[in-house]
Amino acid sequence: MKIAIVGSGYVGLVTGACFAEVGHEVVCIDNDDRKIKALRSGRIPIYEPGLEQLVQRNVSAHRLSFTGSIEEGVDSSPVIFIAVPTPPQADGSVDMTYIERVAREIASVLKEYRVIVDKSTVPVKTGEKVADTIRRYNKVNGEFDVVSNPEFLREGCAVADLMKPDRIVIGSNSERALAIMKRVYEPFMTPIMVTDVNSAELIKHAANSFLALKISYINALSAICEASGADVEKVADGIGADKRIGRSFLNAGLGYGGSCFPKDIAAFISISEQIGEPFHLLREVQRINQHQRERFLKKVRDTLWVLKEKRIAVWGLTFKPDTDDVRSSVAVDLVNDLIREGAHVTAYDPKGNQKVHEFNLCPGVHLASSALDAVRDAETLVLATEWPDFAAVDLAEVHRRMHTPIVFDGRNLFDPDTMRDLGFQYYRVGRPPTKANGSGLSNNDPVRIPIAMESRTTPVQDSSNRPVTKRPRYLAKASASKTSVDRS
Ligand code: UGA
Repeated sequence: MKIAIVGSGYVGLVTGACFAEVGHEVVCIDNDDRKIKALRSGRIPIYEPGLEQLVQRNVSAHRLSFTGSIEEGVDSSPVIFIAVPTPPQADGSVDMTYIERVAREIASVLKEYRVIVDKSTVPVKTGEKVADTIRRYNKVNGEFDVVSNPEFLREGCAVADLMKPDRIVIGSNSERALAIMKRVYEPFMTPIMVTDVNSAELIKHAANSFLALKISYINALSAICEASGADVEKVADGIGADKRIGRSFLNAGLGYGGSCFPKDIAAFISISEQIGEPFHLLREVQRINQHQRERFLKKVRDTLWVLKEKRIAVWGLTFKPDTDDVRSSVAVDLVNDLIREGAHVTAYDPKGNQKVHEFNLCPGVHLASSALDAVRDAETLVLATEWPDFAAVDLAEVHRRMHTPIVFDGRNLFDPDTMRDLGFQYYRVGRPPTKANGSGLSNNDPVRIPIAMESRTTPVQDSSNRPVTKRPRYLAKASASKTSVDRS
């Protein structure tokens, strides 16, 4: 089936490549000539695991092409997806300029029946406005239906999320449009949920807000854990084992960031106010998220006493691992907070250095060429993004290179026992600090639990039938590096 996608950014490009992969003939459209030129010559403007190969394979098979012309796409395809940005405005509401412009452009070239699909994350009732706009600007009274089809992919695993989605939501009031949409999604062999257009639009904002709520819930708990000597990871395992709650998105840390959650929560608050039903709970979600970073910074400040002129290494700049996306990244904000307080910050990220440099996001930061390079002579290391690469670094070597071995782990990546045995003064989120053996810190460590039994993710049974959880791969790796400790 022929499909046109307007907007070749994150969502548009991944969606186009995956549609082509299952056999559709896809044309991706963008008004940025440089992007189209780059894509035509095989260059992918974003880092997303598996995407480059997927695009190359489907371009070679002539199932995926790129153009700057909306007319070309509308003429050739019965279904046109809109996947353009919906950025936030200063007051939190959504800037709908791009969607409105695309609706007008489609209207100006629409001649016969087309399904116009809104894939961008939009406020409820956008479908109605897109339909009104097309009707107003189309001179030939062309037939069309507007459908909402929200996207739930996560950056870093976008291809897998799209190829094997949990669910496909299609909001449509037209049988004719639904029949076409079902043909688009048939090859994915995933249950399709059909709703009205408004409900589909709401599902997207409601899902992202709920996930952000879960993160803020565990982060608020992490503050209580720190104040009471409890361990937030054990608390998360304990509540997450209840199937009604679930363990995912209960990882305490520096808070959520990225191009979606902060924008979508603000937008949902603004929409709820506009329709006269203010969603107060989401304001608290935002407040906790902001407070979490401030609490972390306070911990660094309280420990180091004075931040001015301290040499601080920061590992991580992207808003999460496996992406080069640094938009609304908590790590970037943290670096800027530290610089504002007069610290000398050296940062390193496996994929994010380039974009931080290109857009000058952290004026005054020194960007290191490796994780080990970043910690040379540092008085403190702050871990801001939980890249598995950081857990694989030789921590004994990190200890040797640092001026003073103090580590603030904003994502609870490392194993506390390993850190203690290596001689680090180790601070994490929602758990008591770990003193280095003989460091003189007050020891409020919990009872030590053998590493194999310590909890974090997948529940299993131990020999006594008590539920315990397995460590994730990267923590096991961090522990393994203990064996290479040079204690001389
Ligand atoms: C999010 C949603 O998960 C997707 O379903 C949705 O399609 C997408 O937004 C979107 O609206 O387009 P994404 O922004 O790629 O996807 O990232 P997530 O994996 O959801 O992480 C968001 C933030 O939450 C990150 O900063 C991450 O570090 C943080 N997070 C996540 C936590 O702090 N704790 C957790 O337990 C999980």
